Amino acid sequence: MPPFRGSVLFLIICYLSSALALSHQNPTRSKLVLHEKRDAPPHGWTKRSRAHPAARLPLRIGLTQSNLHLAEEYMLDVSDPRSPNFGKHWTAERVANTFAPSREAVEGVVEWLVQSGIGPERHAFSPADIVLLVEGRNWILFNATVSEAESLFSTEYHYYEHRDKSRGYRIGCDEYHVPEKLRRHIDFAMPTIHLEGLRPVPNALVRRGAVRPPVEGLTGLGNCYELITIECLRALYHFGAGNTSAPGNQLGIPAWGSYLQPDDLALYFRNYTTQPIPNGTFPEFISVDGGLRWNSSLQIGREAGLDVQTAYSIIYPQGVRYYQVGDIDVGITGSFNTFLDALDGSYCTYLGGDAPYLDPVYPNPSPGGYSGPLQCGGAPGSNVLSFSYLQIEAALPASFQIRQCNEYMKLGLQGVSVLFASGDSGVANRYSSQSNNTCLTPRDVGDFIDSDGPRFSPSFPSNCPWVTTVGGTYLKSHNLSHGEIAVALPYAPNPKLDYYSGGGFSNVFPRASYQDSAVSSYLANFPPPYPSPDIYNSAGRAYPDISAMALNISVVIKGRVQVAGGTSASTPIVASIITLLNEARIAKGKGPIGFLNPTLYAHPEAFTDVTEGGNPGCGTAGFSAEKGWDPVTGLGTPNYPKLEEVFLALP
Ligand SMILES: *[C@@H]1O[C@H](CO)[C@@H](O)[C@H](O)[C@H]1NC(C)=O
Ligand SMILES: *[C@@H]1O[C@H](CO)[C@@H](O)[C@H](O)[C@H]1NC(C)=O
Ligand SMILES: *[C@@H]1O[C@H](CO)[C@@H](O)[C@H](O)[C@H]1NC(C)=O
Ligand SMILES: *[C@@H]1O[C@H](CO)[C@@H](O)[C@H](O)[C@H]1NC(C)=O
Ligand SMILES: *[C@@H]1O[C@H](CO)[C@@H](O)[C@H](O)[C@H]1NC(C)=O
Ligand SMILES: *[C@@H]1O[C@H](CO)[C@@H](O)[C@H](O)[C@H]1NC(C)=O
Ligand SMILES: *[C@@H]1O[C@H](CO)[C@@H](O)[C@H](O)[C@H]1NC(C)=O
Ligand SMILES: *[C@@H]1O[C@H](CO)[C@@H](O)[C@H](O)[C@H]1NC(C)=O
Repeated sequence: MPPFRGSVLFLIICYLSSALALSHQNPTRSKLVLHEKRDAPPHGWTKRSRAHPAARLPLRIGLTQSNLHLAEEYMLDVSDPRSPNFGKHWTAERVANTFAPSREAVEGVVEWLVQSGIGPERHAFSPADIVLLVEGRNWILFNATVSEAESLFSTEYHYYEHRDKSRGYRIGCDEYHVPEKLRRHIDFAMPTIHLEGLRPVPNALVRRGAVRPPVEGLTGLGNCYELITIECLRALYHFGAGNTSAPGNQLGIPAWGSYLQPDDLALYFRNYTTQPIPNGTFPEFISVDGGLRWNSSLQIGREAGLDVQTAYSIIYPQGVRYYQVGDIDVGITGSFNTFLDALDGSYCTYLGGDAPYLDPVYPNPSPGGYSGPLQCGGAPGSNVLSFSYLQIEAALPASFQIRQCNEYMKLGLQGVSVLFASGDSGVANRYSSQSNNTCLTPRDVGDFIDSDGPRFSPSFPSNCPWVTTVGGTYLKSHNLSHGEIAVALPYAPNPKLDYYSGGGFSNVFPRASYQDSAVSSYLANFPPPYPSPDIYNSAGRAYPDISAMALNISVVIKGRVQVAGGTSASTPIVASIITLLNEARIAKGKGPIGFLNPTLYAHPEAFTDVTEGGNPGCGTAGFSAEKGWDPVTGLGTPNYPKLEEVFLALP
């Protein structure tokens, strides 16, 4: 331990000197304490000169919501199969009222600002939700100069330049302080340590470097090894075609910067599913923040094609609700927050967006940009949401992730099943489907992610305990009845491009209670040969929860069939199966399932366990798929008839 002592001491000295400096300047003010601090240099950004003291910052302080310590209790009450209140989901109004920040929090922060010279005439609040009649005081907003912000937070602001020059400069700091007595009321302030504008990364993979395989017209169960059609999935997971079109039983598929081409969808329906689907069948199109319908001047999205072609073919005649999120600039920044804002006014933060350095800001002043305000509520929800997009846990501040994860919790309380892909890089991670896998530097260096370091790199929001995370599998052989194995596509000689089912343990969220026994068994019976927490955090939320086919999946792009893969494929497959389960429940007069995990972990018999393969990365063999739950394929692949039995037996 001696090497660490120096740096700990250094921190304490810095902290004391800044606290002393401040109390000297302003003796009447309550003691400031460190609130957030960056662990490592921000990825891709270089710190330049001190920010000009007169530069203006749009500051926002996120207030801690009430009752979050009861979130697990509330969630299990409506989603634990043993609970008498299973399925008794909450209204949006009850959710908003239960979690609104307390009056004490609002008043305390306002008082601090006023005492610091930022008068009440300069404060604004996130708008009240006029539909739910709930006060939207989750954020306090004000414009301040750099010099005011430096004094308020006892910090120094600098310009940061991105190595991709087109992303320009950001103004930020490395740490900031807030009054000790307000710490528990403040989630985080912006702009401070957040610089990264990570776009959600689509996970649709196409076999790299390979010649397009001669798979056109390859249908039927005899060819599943080469090309997974809807018929192959029906045979593997034992589900039939949907029967009815239960009103309101939509599967929601959000897309970022990937556009859905209607002719390809029609061709997929005609050639790759045996169920007749009328030509012209198209999802309900929801434009969020200027999201465009595809036209010939936009690229055809492989991710959008894969997600919708697969899901719609499985769930038809149930409907798909397709959300095109963000305008033309979505390629530069983007996050799941703008989608959450659009879905429910009580999730909405403020006209300027959730986090101006992480989320797109609307209206967008760029030429051709969306000129309307950020969409705040009004977009219809869906019973199931399937996300094939991810970000890197280590690239985002913990507070930002926790806040967003809580929003998925609230969706679950309202009866929505939220599914996220687990990632395609085994225990490693990557910025985009084009980039190399990266890992994390050693713990004492911090979460520096663009590295060949030894530490495993989990994904966000797959790490959130309130979503269901889907891993990837593949067929063992040409014979379907031989079952599945964890997906693997090594790209020798460059292992940085290897494709394996994402899985592991969060460094931000603790293990969820519903998975405690499954995860403890895995760790006890098949102890991973890596130290925790130096390489992976065995106490973290473990994922994936479940898995499905993630290789050689058929997708029609520009009129030709291709094979795609990735947990981008397995996620809409599982989300579609959940939609069929909801259909079966609705037909029996029951409601949608909502949050799935407590029931899934309570019924491992409703899955086909996957016990072969692993998810290598970071110079290791990763974790291994074993009997029972494992951090490669979760509980296994779905067995529809057994799942239907479980879910129809519940109220
Ligand atoms: C901050 O300044 C911008 C630009 O002048 C303005 O649009 C916005 O309303 C101001 N925000 C607050 C909270 O006063
Ligand atoms: C996937 O399909 C390709 C042909 O498209 C085939 O060569 C390969 O064997 C199939 N299976 C796997 C596991 O790659
Ligand atoms: C669907 O209908 C359109 C318009 O009638 C036609 O151009 C197209 O070829 C049809 N597609 C399929 C797959 O049948
Ligand atoms: C495609 O849509 C964009 C945005 O609506 C529009 O500016 C453009 O003119 C359209 N292109 C074509 C070929 O219709
Ligand atoms: C990806 O990894 C390979 C092999 O290590 C390396 O040659 C290449 O430069 C890397 N690419 C990027 C974009 O980092
Ligand atoms: C597939 O495997 C099963 C079980 O091993 C076997 O009974 C069956 O004959 C095989 N089918 C073919 C076509 O080889
Ligand atoms: C679809 O099926 C038609 C008729 O069998 C065939 O000519 C065409 O090549 C197929 N297209 C794709 C993309 O599979
Ligand atoms: C459709 O109907 C069949 C026969 O009644 C039934 O077995 C199947 O479970 C139904 N599918 C769904 C999704 O409800």
